[in-house]
Amino acid sequence: MDSNPPTTQQRKSIDLMQKITSLAKRRGFIFPSSEIYGGFGSGYDFGPLGVEMKNNIKKIWWDEMTKTQENIVGLDAAILMSPKVWSASGHLTAGFADELVECQKCHKRFRLDEIKGKCPECAGMLSKPRKFNLMMKTSVGSVETEASTTYLRAETCQGIYVNFENVLNSMRQKLPFGIAQIGKAFRNEITPGNFIYRTREFEQMEMQWFCSPKEADKFFDYWQKQRMKWYLDLGIKKTALRAIEIPAEERAHYAKRQIDIEYHFPFGWQEIEGVHNRGDYDLSNHSKHSGKDLQYEGYYPYIIETSAGADRSFLTFLIDAFQEIKGGRTKTTQASKEVEVLLKLDKKLAPVKMAVLPLVRNKPELVKKAKEVYKLLKPHFVCQYDELGSIGRRYRRQDEVGTILCLTCDFQTLEDDTLTIRNRDTMKQTRVKIKELVDVLKEKLNTQ
Ligand code: GAP
Repeated sequence: MDSNPPTTQQRKSIDLMQKITSLAKRRGFIFPSSEIYGGFGSGYDFGPLGVEMKNNIKKIWWDEMTKTQENIVGLDAAILMSPKVWSASGHLTAGFADELVECQKCHKRFRLDEIKGKCPECAGMLSKPRKFNLMMKTSVGSVETEASTTYLRAETCQGIYVNFENVLNSMRQKLPFGIAQIGKAFRNEITPGNFIYRTREFEQMEMQWFCSPKEADKFFDYWQKQRMKWYLDLGIKKTALRAIEIPAEERAHYAKRQIDIEYHFPFGWQEIEGVHNRGDYDLSNHSKHSGKDLQYEGYYPYIIETSAGADRSFLTFLIDAFQEIKGGRTKTTQASKEVEVLLKLDKKLAPVKMAVLPLVRNKPELVKKAKEVYKLLKPHFVCQYDELGSIGRRYRRQDEVGTILCLTCDFQTLEDDTLTIRNRDTMKQTRVKIKELVDVLKEKLNTQ
């Protein structure tokens, strides 16, 4: 047992993470992987609402890079690459390794940067630090020989570097330009944890900006600002976001300069994205190892990289949006003694945009009407139909998953073909004609 009991602040943080993990499972955002077999390797699966929200994050990032920004094209490279890529990139050496210590009593291993003094599990003595490479080995082909050994990619950007020339030529690009990619990456993390914060399989959203060495500093500053703005524009609290300059001795092995964008999680300030000036490290090394000259106009382009985690962004948005309202939001009902949860996600991130609700379910005409409305909206928006429980309870159920709008068919609907639209944040209701509904909703979701 840990000899120091948790402080009040630590207990609050653990409590908050437990609430968020439990909400995520109960409402179909995130499930433990292989749960019926007791879970596996701290992996997680994204449920029906989780996959919608994660897709929203990836789409917003993709559009930002390939539509809003100038001169960035996309790529989707294979996860499995020649093992020579990983020799060239430096990932097979000590550079891509965590320092770990082992408890001499319970033999648990810990990252050196996460621990002080004694074993946090049993207070045993710790061994001297040892390097532990994070690459995940696999074998390709049916015979498990050395020749068929390769690795699951540990960062998606290597697929971009080995395609630098293909993209340059096929798209007739000129420097400066960028290549964006979203995809899975794998690391044999020693201590995965904090829910989906650190896992062994995760998704990265990476953009590599190729430019002349002379312009590298200017673009580094530009991209750092753009990436901070991205999180803030999607509603992240300013006070919970910061950019930290990483000193030379702590930088990734390829980085000439590194800024970590950090979020204030319940478990402390932690990195959610890295902005790196990788200099000519990657293209010069791939030239050397492959024998292919990857210079442009006689020099190796410098690379400014923005490297975000889709899963870490997900966790950040989820935690930042999570609110508990003691006594309830309306404070007029029987439920007012309860704590109500509001997931105040940005409307672009929210997994469900609207819910269609008949006021009561024992009136067949109302149920029929609400189902018709649901059928009308389903091709246009991610929406849900819900008729179970009191209307107040249904509103709360939708607030808990961040649904932006609740559309209620009531008795007036049967008279004049209108319904009410309730706004998640203001709880204000407006009445709208069903025949104008699709246009009104499109406008509300874009401009509200
Ligand atoms: N290409 C540069 C690179 O991979 P990194 O700082 O090692 O840089 C970038 O990783 C981002 O990828 C991190 O900021 C984080 O969002 C995400 N990431 C890295 N390891 C992760 C893990 N084990 N679990 C979840 N996300 C991870």
